[in-house]
Amino acid sequence: MRFLNTLFFICLALCLHAQQVSIIPEPVSLKVNKGIFAISKSTPLVVTDKGDELSAAFLNDYLETIYGFRLAITSKASLKGITLVTRKFVKAPDADSYELKSTATGVKIEGDTYAGTFHGIQTLIQLLPTVKQATLAIPAVEIKDAPRFAYRGMMLDVSRHFFPVPMVKKFIDYLALHKLNRFHWHLTDDQGWRIEIKKYPRLTEVGGFRNGTITGKHPGTGNTNERYGGFYTQEQIKEVVKYASDRFVTVVPEIEMPGHGSAAIAAYPELSCFPEVPTIRYFPAKGTWGGDSTGKQVMQAWGVLDDVFCAGKENTFTFLQDVLTEVIPLFPSQLIHVGGDECPKKNWEKCPNCQKRMKENNLKDEHELQSYFVQRMEKFINSHGRTLIGWDEILEGGLAPNAVVMSWRGEKGGIEAAKLKHKVVMTPTTYFYFDYKQVEKEDSLTIGGNLPLEKVYSYEPYPAELTADEAKLITGVQANLWTEYITKPEKIEYMVFPRMEALSEIAWSAKDKKNWAKFESKLPKQYQRYDLWGANYHKYYYDLKVKGTAK
Ligand code: ACM
Ligand code: ZN
Repeated sequence: MRFLNTLFFICLALCLHAQQVSIIPEPVSLKVNKGIFAISKSTPLVVTDKGDELSAAFLNDYLETIYGFRLAITSKASLKGITLVTRKFVKAPDADSYELKSTATGVKIEGDTYAGTFHGIQTLIQLLPTVKQATLAIPAVEIKDAPRFAYRGMMLDVSRHFFPVPMVKKFIDYLALHKLNRFHWHLTDDQGWRIEIKKYPRLTEVGGFRNGTITGKHPGTGNTNERYGGFYTQEQIKEVVKYASDRFVTVVPEIEMPGHGSAAIAAYPELSCFPEVPTIRYFPAKGTWGGDSTGKQVMQAWGVLDDVFCAGKENTFTFLQDVLTEVIPLFPSQLIHVGGDECPKKNWEKCPNCQKRMKENNLKDEHELQSYFVQRMEKFINSHGRTLIGWDEILEGGLAPNAVVMSWRGEKGGIEAAKLKHKVVMTPTTYFYFDYKQVEKEDSLTIGGNLPLEKVYSYEPYPAELTADEAKLITGVQANLWTEYITKPEKIEYMVFPRMEALSEIAWSAKDKKNWAKFESKLPKQYQRYDLWGANYHKYYYDLKVKGTAK
């Protein structure tokens, strides 16, 4: 028996030798020692601090889903197990560092915060074999690790296409597995309002559904002529927020204003400058409309719409404040996103109410009216103890005093905001729009733009134009997944993988740890993990690697 055991461990060691330690995002320091530790269902999971139970639960759920067993949790110290410790040496907010040490006898993960310990669990998961086994051999390693940026996010648009709770949870799991910690939930847009607001039931009854969707590329080659939509109840929102919080992910909700609000206008036409003008008049002339086209309707094509919230009528502000009064308590996030992007000023120029508002407040143009709008909303959000975040258009006409800027039209807005001493999240289209295709010739419809993996990886969030102090205001990065051409969960996975790997190294890894050749060498293992998860992914880059023709 002893002989067989020895043979077993020699075999494990040999198998492991062939396996490269492959952690994404790359840790601050990693030393591989001799020896292995074998995890099996009899390995104790030692947890003495209640705060670490979330990390233990995540590990156990992962082990059960992927390998078919759970570990018994104990508070009794055991050198032969996996021990979780959170030291609570909180160095700075969000400095979620950890250390992981595995030897032939056991594993110890020590986080500086509970989130740090949780990130250590993600690293442990990446030490596990990428084939299903009853005994999981991991190498002896010493890892010290900490994040580069506090804000490490991804956005999912659930308006253009709706994704039910299980997919949203899966998306949050993917973030957690990549040490990302912000889920920006784009809940409202012209094509659908997706969050229940009890005071305004028509928002979801009417605004949550459209009578058709264009087919093909905007403005479309036809129409599905099918009613399409969905929304999350407040109970479901709470469930998702808790699910995320259990994974140390903060959900940042986005309620779009003053543009991209026409699904709300379909429900409550008086929010428009011109309630009597039917939506079809804003629909592209070459598009095909499905179903009823009278009055205000939920939009069936993509793009930017001139029918925006009226900035002149007081009832617009009452409505939006009522909405936020219900939204804010659902989301513990410090940041509340109000959109602010792509708001055409055509209707405001013609609207007597908007013009009256401008005159009364000495606003010299419609950009200043937008600034007035955002500043009013900021006061309201600040009065609830929260901070407003918006797309970089909120700089136009004057930035609200405490606002955080999400820079998407390149880095220009982010640079300007940092120079004005505002915090910034960088999410430039040219590096972080994951709705863009990954190769020149995609096998399904995408919005356009070409954003291969190498290009994503090459991004450096600190612009050269900023001083060291200004650069400190870049709180992090985010990639965005707009879903005009993403109709199914599998396509979400296809668009984000493997680009989420690159995002995670930009967001987490120290600048001097980023290395394309090393990153590339870690990808095959990551593809095996996708297979293990049953996740879809973009294989083109991998195929080129196998053929030896990848650039
Ligand atoms: C955006 O892509 N309109 C923020
Ligand atoms: Zn108006």
